[in-house]
Parts: sequence; structure tokens; C-alpha cells
Amino acid sequence: MCGIVGYIGKKDAKEILIKGLKKLEYRGYDSAGIAFFKNQKVEMIKSVGKISKLEDKLQKGDFSNYNIGIAHTRWATHGKVTLENAHPHQVGEITLVHNGIIENIESLKNDLEKERATFYSQTDTEIVAYLLNKYLEPDFLKTIQKVTKLLKGSYALGIIVKSEDSTLYVVKKDSPVVIGLGEDENFFASDISAIHEYTNDFMFLDEEEIAKITKDSVEVYNKNLEMISKKVQTIQLEQESLGKQGFPHYMLKEIYEQPIVLEKTLNKYMDKFSELPDLTTYQEIHIVACGSAMYVGMIGKYLFEENASLKTIVTVASEYRYEKTIYNNETLVILVSQSGETADTIAALRKAKENGQTTLAIVNVKSSTIAKEADQVLFIEAGEEVAVATTKAYTLQVAMFALLSLKLAYDKKLIMDIDSYLKDFKEIPNLLKKVIEQEDDIKTLAIELAKSKDIFFIGRKIDYAICLEGSLKLKEISYIHSEAYQAGELKHGTISLIEKDTPVIAIITDREIAPKSISNVEEVESRGAKSIMITTEKLKELVDASLVVPSVCQFLQPLLVVPILQLLAYHVAVLKNCDIDKPRNLAKSVTVE
Ligand code: G6P
Repeated sequence: MCGIVGYIGKKDAKEILIKGLKKLEYRGYDSAGIAFFKNQKVEMIKSVGKISKLEDKLQKGDFSNYNIGIAHTRWATHGKVTLENAHPHQVGEITLVHNGIIENIESLKNDLEKERATFYSQTDTEIVAYLLNKYLEPDFLKTIQKVTKLLKGSYALGIIVKSEDSTLYVVKKDSPVVIGLGEDENFFASDISAIHEYTNDFMFLDEEEIAKITKDSVEVYNKNLEMISKKVQTIQLEQESLGKQGFPHYMLKEIYEQPIVLEKTLNKYMDKFSELPDLTTYQEIHIVACGSAMYVGMIGKYLFEENASLKTIVTVASEYRYEKTIYNNETLVILVSQSGETADTIAALRKAKENGQTTLAIVNVKSSTIAKEADQVLFIEAGEEVAVATTKAYTLQVAMFALLSLKLAYDKKLIMDIDSYLKDFKEIPNLLKKVIEQEDDIKTLAIELAKSKDIFFIGRKIDYAICLEGSLKLKEISYIHSEAYQAGELKHGTISLIEKDTPVIAIITDREIAPKSISNVEEVESRGAKSIMITTEKLKELVDASLVVPSVCQFLQPLLVVPILQLLAYHVAVLKNCDIDKPRNLAKSVTVE
């Protein structure tokens, strides 16, 4: 998703802005641009494609004398990926960058067109620039107040006003923005990663707040233009990821990191097991999230229901935020999010809170909006995850559900021998390491799969939840069409797509239901499918499997299967020469709905 970064100070703005944009690359983008500002003149450079292209353009001119600038990576929403649509956008006195989506753009545009306004881009952002220029007042804060009242949707705007040589303005609603405080310099950005190299002191803008930033000062105003005093937070980021550390891709590096971060996260919570939230008072759980995080929720559902007898409903956040939700008096709403900035998940959290529900978030990024707004937060210790396709964060989120459901089962006295379970939890990082060591066998399987047009995943109950993530991983990075089905459901329509040698990957780890899944595999095999089965040590007599993982207690089994599917997707994508860490069209942090 779009990223914004701004600098005002004494240093070379170009270096700082380019570095900042590179840090925001992980969010996903398709074009980039910078506006430099000096002596009431603005110089804009934009490019389509990678930031290296923008750097090439910058090298051709002399941009080393600027100390003020705003920059942007664009992930197209309104309008195609073109130079005209890339940010910054400029209208008259105003130059700005924008992260978010303005939803009432058609009506605003129609009104402006009646006044014979013409537009050079197809973006919603240009309309905002137009309005700011139209309503320009000597006190620009008043202009911002007037224009933002007209806007519906989300925005984090970084603004230059030509007549104000030494000032940048920032305003936000439903899109994150942070201000970094330095000495003789200040910064703003979509997240702290873009600017933490220069400062550890940050101010997070809250909804509808406006910041007026010079090199020596930051003034923050609320929507009524009253100056407010903001808390400065000192945040030391953990040592930054040291690049790919010899791995060809971040995704592979992150897959291999899983045993270490799993151990770290489990130790953190197992040491204080009794302090994990007490969920016995709840009659129902809603798990709400997007993408892989929602598939974590699917695993959570089976863990809570099967092991701790607690009714659990999993909903995609983009639906949850709008659908009619029947809350029970004792409903706990759990939000799952690596970034903590996914727009739909934030909206779901706010809806739950507005309806008086208790919220619990499972998050990786500590300074994120969800972490700040949820009633309770459990942080996973994944560290920085760079590859767009999540791996280690997914695994740690699953581990959190394993812990929460274990704690609930214990609190409800459904299990007694807690020590033997905790022993299993302690052993899981080592077993995971052994699973990942099967990489060569997985690579061989990938060769069989890489030429396929369609690949199906089937499983029952928790194995189905595992399939959902396996299938998503495969399609997002290898671009092979793939679907996950409950094993018994395939025959109700989709089986018509099975042709000779169509791969069907079956996950069979649940002893009780294994015979049923095996029958479903036979059904597809007899229609020509090529089945690939993944099972556990305990079931290998029963299942003619291609890959076998160690058998562990019912809380932990998914943790040993999903990494196999991550590696499988990874190697298929390698064979297909795909852009693994930054798959086409995808963004890591989805800050618009
Ligand atoms: C994007 C990412 C996914 C992620 C989803 C939710 O689609 O590519 O990997 O699962 O967003 O993100 P979150 O940060 O809320 O976990």
C-alpha cells in the first residue's frame, strides 16, 4: 500500500527520502515520487516501477541542495499505474502526497467540474490538492479544517504550501502516520521503519489531528484547531534485519527463522502461563482478520472448539465491519494482524468496541494502531517480516492460539496434566527445525507441481484450515491457480475440474477423521488426479504419504505442517522465476479497504 515520508531540516533531503521510500517498499507499490521544496519553488520527480528508476532520474539532475521534501510510494487504487497518477500531486500552491482512499471523490469531482476545473490525473489525491488550493487561507490550518470536512474516506496527507517556505503539514484519518523528532530536523512517515535510523522519538498522530512541522518545532492541533500536547514516545527498534543473510530471498530466510522466533514467543508466554488471559467467562469468540491472519483464525477456531469447547466464529474483517453482528453478552473479539495496520481489521476492532465488546489483539508490530486501540494485546516476537507473503508471523499467531486454547482447556479443567502439554510446547521449535530440514524432498515435489495449471488442497477440520493457508501461499507467490476445499465438499461441484494428473494435495493429520479424508483422496484419484498426501508419524501406516511430519499433541500439529506448505509454495515460485518477496499486485500492509 502507499507509503509517505517527509523531511525538513538541514541535511540532504534526497538521501533521507529515498532511504525512507526503500524502507516502505515492503508495503507494496507500483510507482514512486518526490517533491523537493526551496525558496517557494517545488521540484517534482516521479517514476513508474521500482525506486531504482526514481534514483536513476534523480541522478540525472542536481537535487543535492534541498533540505525539505515529501515522498511517496503508490499502490494504485484510483487510476492506472502511470506517471500522471504517481504522487506527489500539485495544484497551484499545493503539493501533496497521500496514503488512503477518498471515497466521495465522484461527487467532489463533479462539483469541481461544474466550475470548469480540469484534472491531469485519475487520482482521488489530485482532487484533495485542488480543494486545498481552492480554499487556501492565510492560516493554512483553517484550509485543512475546511477541506477535511468535505472528505469521506481515509487519508494521511503530507503537504507543502508554496508560500510557507519552512513548513510541512500533515493530517490523518484512518491511515497511519508518525512524526519523528530530531535536532534541527523533523520527519513524518507512514511508519517508524522509514525514519527510525535518524531518531528514536516519535509522536503518533491520532484521528483528524493536524501537525505543523518546521525543522525546530512540531505543533499538533485537533480538528477544532486547538493546539494539543502530544506524548513523545521513545522507541528503540530491535536490531534491524541484517538483509537476507545469505538466503536468496527474504521469504526463505523467514521460513528458516521460524524455530527461533517460535521458541522466543513460546518462552515469553509459557514463563507466565498463568498470566495468559482467562477466557472462561466468554460464551463465544469472534476471530476477525484478513488474508493469512484470517486463516490463522480458522486454526484458532478448531483449537478453541475441539480442545476447549468454546464456540468460535471466524469472519473476514472487510465483511465483519459492515455485517450485522449478533453479540452475545459474553463475546470476546480477537483481532489478528501482523502489521496491526490493516484498515479493515482496525475498522472491525472499532466496531467491536463501539458495541461494548472486549477486544484482544494478536499483533507483531508494537507501535501499530491495533496494538494501541485493543483492550488487551498479545505480541508475537516475529521481528521484522519483509517478504510480502507472511510465514513466521503466521506461525507465531497460530502458536498464540495454541497457547490460549491450552490455557482455556486447563482453566475449564478439560485437561489436567498441563505439565506434559507444556513439555510438548517446549519441544516444538526443535521439531519444526527437523521439518524444515525436509526441504530437499519438498523441492522434488515442487518440480512435479510447477507445471500445473490448477492445484487443489483438501483436508477436513483443522487440516482444512491448514489447506487454506497452503493454497493461499501457493497462489500468491507462484501465480498458479489453487483452491482449498473441505475434503468432503470437493465432489459437490469442483471435482468437475479434476483432470488427468491434476495435483490434489491432501493434509491428513487428524486420526479420527483420517479414514474419511483417505476416501476423498481415492475419489479424486479415480478421476485421474495426482494425489500428494502429507501426514504424521502416527498415521503413516494408514496414509501413503509423500511427506511425514512428527506427531505432536492436538494443539500443535498445524505448526509442523504449514511450514512444509510454505516451502512447497516457495520452491514452485522459484522454479517459475517469480518475484517471490514482492509478488505482483500484492501489498504487505493493506492500509486501505
Ligand atoms: C496482506 C498480506 C498478507 C496478510 C494480510 C493481513 O494481504 O499480504 O500476508 O495476511 O495482508 O495483514 P495483517 O498485517 O493484518 O496480518
